[in-house]
Amino acid sequence: MKKTLLSLFVFVGLVSCQQEEVNTVTATSPDGLNAVTFELIDGKPVYSVTHGDKSVIKPSALGFVFQDHDSLYSGLEVEDIVETEVDDEWEQVWGEKQFITDHYKQLEVALKEKKAPYRTVKLQFRAFNDGVAFRYLYPGNGSKDSLKIMDELTTFDLGSDGQAWWIPAYQDNRYEYLFTKSAISTLDTVHTPLTIESDNGLYVSFHEARLIDFASMTLAHTTGTTLKADLVPWADGVKVKTNGSFTTPWRTIQIGEKPGDLITSYMILNLNDPNELEDTSWIKPHKYLGIWWGMHIGKYSFWESPIQGATTSNSFKYIDYCKELGIDHLLIEGWNKGWTPQWYENHMHMFSFTENADNFDLKKVTDYARENGVSIIGYHETGSNIINYRKQINAGMQLYHDYGIHDVKIGQVGSRMNMKEWHHGQFGVAYYREVLKTAAQYQLTVNFHEPIKDTGERRTFPNMMAREGARGQEYNAWSEGNPPSHTVILPFTRMLAGPMDFTPGVLDVEIKQGYAGRDVHTTAAKQLALYVVLYSPIQMLADLPENYVGNPAFKFLQDVPTDWYDTKVLNAEIGAYITTVRKDRHSEDWYLGSITNEQERTLEVPLDFLEEGSVYEAQLYADAAGTGYETNPTAVTISTKEVTSKDSLTLNLGKSGGTAIRFAKK
Ligand code: NOJ
Repeated sequence: MKKTLLSLFVFVGLVSCQQEEVNTVTATSPDGLNAVTFELIDGKPVYSVTHGDKSVIKPSALGFVFQDHDSLYSGLEVEDIVETEVDDEWEQVWGEKQFITDHYKQLEVALKEKKAPYRTVKLQFRAFNDGVAFRYLYPGNGSKDSLKIMDELTTFDLGSDGQAWWIPAYQDNRYEYLFTKSAISTLDTVHTPLTIESDNGLYVSFHEARLIDFASMTLAHTTGTTLKADLVPWADGVKVKTNGSFTTPWRTIQIGEKPGDLITSYMILNLNDPNELEDTSWIKPHKYLGIWWGMHIGKYSFWESPIQGATTSNSFKYIDYCKELGIDHLLIEGWNKGWTPQWYENHMHMFSFTENADNFDLKKVTDYARENGVSIIGYHETGSNIINYRKQINAGMQLYHDYGIHDVKIGQVGSRMNMKEWHHGQFGVAYYREVLKTAAQYQLTVNFHEPIKDTGERRTFPNMMAREGARGQEYNAWSEGNPPSHTVILPFTRMLAGPMDFTPGVLDVEIKQGYAGRDVHTTAAKQLALYVVLYSPIQMLADLPENYVGNPAFKFLQDVPTDWYDTKVLNAEIGAYITTVRKDRHSEDWYLGSITNEQERTLEVPLDFLEEGSVYEAQLYADAAGTGYETNPTAVTISTKEVTSKDSLTLNLGKSGGTAIRFAKK
């Protein structure tokens, strides 16, 4: 299946004007639409981006400020430019699409200072059909000392305004904020992915790929429609500490003509290194139940108490539920020593990662689970006390390995790591990578909560399954909740970075067993549709298991896969609605999820994604007539219909409603 084409040209003569030195060179995507141009104007490097005849980025700055006001952004000349083209295809160990095309044209521009100390730096630009990316490679230039980056000068001048969906950077709850939609020209400092509907009609998303041993990039609005890279600093103000040389993450600009084009862009993955794990047989996408929602709605406690969730007997009960419901993974939180009612306060809380809580026996529970064909998912809550976790991580992971556990969820609750460093600074970036690599040594997959943003790590380490990194379902349990539009914004923003452990599937949408007045603000059918819309290789069935028993809608949750051959977005408007279809990786079946915001709507969906000439049974789970998130939200109408690729379906979505469909090939 693999085809690779590599062509290489070395440019010696660049365009140059008579009076002043101007060098211009362009890389154009294979389909000819996206172009990234490099220019050297008066010794200063500049880049710009176009899509067809539309400008995406006007000439924008590149460069750095190092310690002692030393900078590198001017006084440069081009040494040489190498152009290459790569056309490749690779297979995901698991994913939303099995085979990924990696086809781009690259420019590598080598620059050198015209005066002493004659430092060099390389810039790589890649033009893909789904966007452009660039990065800096700084070789060290003979320096034996450390080099501190105080600022990255990269800017993104959009030229024209547009609407952005954003969450603020530098906040105590990391990524867990509701998205705001407002003009680019009014932004403050925001996280990426930052998605924009430009006034010129394009959909553009800014992010980064292959974030290794560097600070995360946020985007700060400067003037007009210009955004500037703003690297998350260490507590001492330094942005990045290097030992002389460094390679930045790729700065990525995904470009689409429709909102759905951003979702089916795999550029971020393509910019990461290939899989480094030789044996991946222990990595399994799955669905899981959890001793979890009960804690969030107040039915159970995380800590030892008369309503302690993680007891041996309750775990046995949940394993029995797994068996009854046909779900083979179970997450158990609060199983270890250290949980107290104040566990989430930022106080260098001390958790043990090896000692059982009272009334809980990990050995007995994992033995009983194994006898019943259920795998336990481990849980490490660090409370952002990274000093404590680093001391115990090997022992904690070894224990899971010894008990046959292959998956661990790892939490980093807290506004700063070790009460000092931002999660998104270089300290945190290095920490998460180290944990991921350590987990791989113990054959453990990882689900980070309170993570840093995803930049495509799963390609290199496919044990990186999912992460939180946004307001998930839990906010519906103990806050004012997520509004109906939240899940029609996530696919175009947070989820462009990678899979999210949103934890859908609360069918008791009015949360009858929980705190009074809490609600998930969707219909039950929308909860089903989220399994197709919000991609993750691990999907929690978040509700209390007793709410699934005897519920006919649960059949969809039993059927829906977590590993896909292909993904398509049939229709979408950011913040309003989306219809996604995915083909199962292990059968000929397709699945559809369609969801809407607080407005009810009717969508006509052609079924031309189905295989031509084949007949499918469409198993539909729809909002019952008159159902919406405020009225009769749990009523799901289940029906079947024979369809082919020539048919269309009319989907009637209630307010904050949805439709989920399995197309079973006959
Ligand atoms: C926050 C996480 O998002 C949630 O899933 C977990 O249950 C709690 N922290 C406890 O660690």
